[in-house]
Parts: sequence; C-alpha cells; structure tokens
Amino acid sequence: MAKAKTAFVCTNCGAEYSRWQGQCRQCGEWNSIEEVHYSSSGAERTVTRAASLSGFAGLADGKVENLSAVKIAQTVRMPTGYSEFDRVLGGGIVPGSVVLIGGNPGAGKSTLLLQTVCKLSAQTRVLYITGEESLEQVAIRAQRLALPTERVRIGAETSIDNIISIALQEQPAVLVVDSIQVMHVNDVDSAPGAVTQVRESAAALTQFAKRSGIAVFLVGHVTKEGSLAGPKILEHCVDCSVMLEAGNDMRFRTLRCHKNRFGAVNEIGVFAMTDKGLHEIKNPSAIFLNRQEKVAPGSLATCVWEGTRPLLVELQCLVDLSQFGNPRRLSLGTDGARLSMLLSVLHRHAGIQLADQDVFVNVVGGVKIDGTSADVPLILALLSSFTERPIERTTIAFGEIGLTGEIRPVQSGLERLNEAEKQGFMRAIVPFDNAPRNTTKVGNMEIVPVRNIQELVDLV
Ligand code: TYD
Ligand code: MG
Repeated sequence: MAKAKTAFVCTNCGAEYSRWQGQCRQCGEWNSIEEVHYSSSGAERTVTRAASLSGFAGLADGKVENLSAVKIAQTVRMPTGYSEFDRVLGGGIVPGSVVLIGGNPGAGKSTLLLQTVCKLSAQTRVLYITGEESLEQVAIRAQRLALPTERVRIGAETSIDNIISIALQEQPAVLVVDSIQVMHVNDVDSAPGAVTQVRESAAALTQFAKRSGIAVFLVGHVTKEGSLAGPKILEHCVDCSVMLEAGNDMRFRTLRCHKNRFGAVNEIGVFAMTDKGLHEIKNPSAIFLNRQEKVAPGSLATCVWEGTRPLLVELQCLVDLSQFGNPRRLSLGTDGARLSMLLSVLHRHAGIQLADQDVFVNVVGGVKIDGTSADVPLILALLSSFTERPIERTTIAFGEIGLTGEIRPVQSGLERLNEAEKQGFMRAIVPFDNAPRNTTKVGNMEIVPVRNIQELVDLV
C-alpha cells in the first residue's frame, strides 16, 4: 500500500502546494487553500487507471517522429441530429473528443443532451450517466418529450471509476456525464464539486475518451459570476467548451462555443425552449429583429458575423439632453470604448457635437456584438435619435469607421447583403468597398455605398 499523500490545493485556480499558505501565489486569492488527501500519488493513480483500460493504445509512448509521418485515421464526424448543435461543434461529434456543456441551472443542458442521445441512439450506441437526477426523473422527462428511448442505455452513478468500467462493458460511441460537479474519484478524499475532485474526474474521463475513442459529453455548472465552476481547469482539459445561455427572453437559448480543437469558435446555435423540449431555430435572424410596426427614431438593423454565418440584429440608440454636468455614455451589447471613439470621430469629422447629451446604446435580444462592423449603424442610429428622424424599418447598415472618418469595408460583405436581402430588407447602407461593382442592387435591395462619415450625416 502506497503512503497516503497530503497536498494543499487552491479552490479557486487548482494550484497545488506542499504546505498551507494564506494566499494563493498563482491567482492571488486569499484563504482559498484547502488540505486534500490522496490515497496514492498522482503518477500511481494514472497508472492504475491506465491498467484498467488495458487493450487501448497508450497516448504517451515515448516515441518521436516526423509530423508528416503521423498516421491520420479517417475521422468520421457523427451528426448529432441537430444541425444547430453540429455547427457549434464544428460539424458533428469527433470520436474520442471531450465536449463540456456549461450553463446556468435551468438553461436546458440535461434536456439538450437527453434529446441528443435519444436521436443518436437510432444509429449508434449511447450511454447516459446521470448523477443529479434519478433514473425515473429522466424517464419521465423522456416520456413527456416523446423521445425514442428503446436503445438508450442509462445509469445513475457518481463514481468515475465505476463509470469507466460501465462504459468499458457497454462500449458506447457517445457517453454523457451529467454533471461533472457531482462526480468523484475514489482515491481523492474531498467532497464532490471540490476543485480536486472536478479536476481528477475530468482528467480521468478525458484520458479515457482519448484511449477508447468514445466521445464524452460533460455537463458543467457555472458560478454566479457566469464562469464555469471548478475554474479554468475544466476548460483546459476538454477539447470543446460550449455554453448554453438563456438571453433576456427566456424562451430562447443560444449555444455558443468558447473553445474548439476541431472547428471555429464563436459559432452560435439557437434553440427555443418549448413545452416539448428544445427546438432548433434555423433562421435566428428573425428573432433578434424588432418586429414592431411603428418605426421610432434611433433604431436600425445591422448584420453581424457570428462564426461562419451572418446574423441580423437590431441596434437602438437614445440621445437625450443631459440633466447633469457629466453626460452618461452607456452601451449594452457593444464596446463602450468604441462608442466614445465614434462620438469623437463624429464631432471632429462631421462637426456634430454630442458633448452635452446622454448616449445609450442597446442591442436587442441580449446579443453581444464584438468587432467593428456595427460602427456605421451605430452612428446612423445615434444621428436618427438626435435629429428625431426615424430610419425606415427596411433599411440595414454595416461598416467600420476609422479615426479619420473614413468608412472601411468589413469581411464577408456579400454574404451579409444576401442574408439581408433574404430577410426582406429594401435598402442597405454599406462601405464603398463592400458594395458590389457595376450594380446598385442585390436582388430587390438597393445598395447605398458610403465613403466617409460626412456622407452618413447627409443621409440622415
Ligand atoms: P434542465 O434541462 O433540467 O436544465 P439544466 O440541466 O441546464 O439545469 O432544464 C430544464 C428547464 O427548462 C426547466 O427549468 C424547465 C424547462 N423545460 C421546459 O420549459 N420544457 C421542457 O420540455 C423541458 C424538458 C424543460
Ligand atoms: Mg441538469
């Protein structure tokens, strides 16, 4: 029997020390260091688990070769049955990958994964491990959602070692573990949910996935600040980290990828939560646009680029005479520093002074815009609110504004225009370099090219 080992681990960042101290040197957090006991050393734990996985090729075998000579097995991605989910994963499930699904309580993580395994079970073997709900609860939900459950294997288990041995027996292609925060490994004696347990559990499952070729989905809780509980450790060891977020409007859920070793990040997938579970929304642009009939000054649609597709959203601005000496600038969903910069450009290059005005900017639907393509619509919406002249609802705009007041092109201009045309917009205000050559129309939509900020002012 190996000697028991004691370590001191920071509950905030997972750094390990040989003795207790008041402040973690890694993350600077105070009073976050706790004592944990291992019944065996880290290396021994890895060896015992590796032994239990005998028959699988090892990951670290000490050999070095040319990168070009490494054999690439033909990986076939498995579609999840939901095209929105596939897109976020970069085109389906990669065998042997570990995907972490994070989100607030009630976001619908368990629902999404249950629906996915039920769909997948038609073509492949799946195993669903629930550590939070009883088998009956899951069965009731599946029944209520009328999911095909005949071929779904399910177990209630919280011990990682048991889960691995069950998975070895069952040989599924996809394993779901709900959730990583309630799992524990036998040889660490801290409570489930503690940093060491989360780290060891996730590490054991990752190693298992890589060796066995089973794709593993982990459910992760988030803390009240919105980051994944059990800190960054989890995100480091998984291949894909996906967040299921509920916007201000509780009906819609966006699935957003934060890390992906097999595809692009910033992909979003949109679902609606209904009484019959989650449904994909294939045309998300429609929900982020304001459908009010009346046009108010200060609002304008724009087309932002999310991952590999365009998304139409509505920007709203309010410009109002400030009641106090210090005018407020507030932006929700866009970059606040960029707003200040644009206000200066507007003053310097178009002679419009908003220094005595409060300026508020909001993106409808809780969407966050990063990137610069919303500069032009932002200025237009500001001017529209300032002059109290509404812009027609069928107008859309995008484009970047430089410090000298010039309007610069943005990526994928034509795709954005096509998306806007598909949604029925009639006029698009775009950077000159994004406008199609030798035509002033895309479909039925009129194109208005602009070169500098003065031309924008003239338009309003
Ligand atoms: P759940 O999937 O249990 O969330 P998580 O695992 O992320 O904590 O969350 C389901 C939430 O969604 C719950 O609050 C109720 C709601 N819901 C519906 O509105 N319709 C449904 O068909 C289901 C299954 C859940
Ligand atoms: Mg759940």
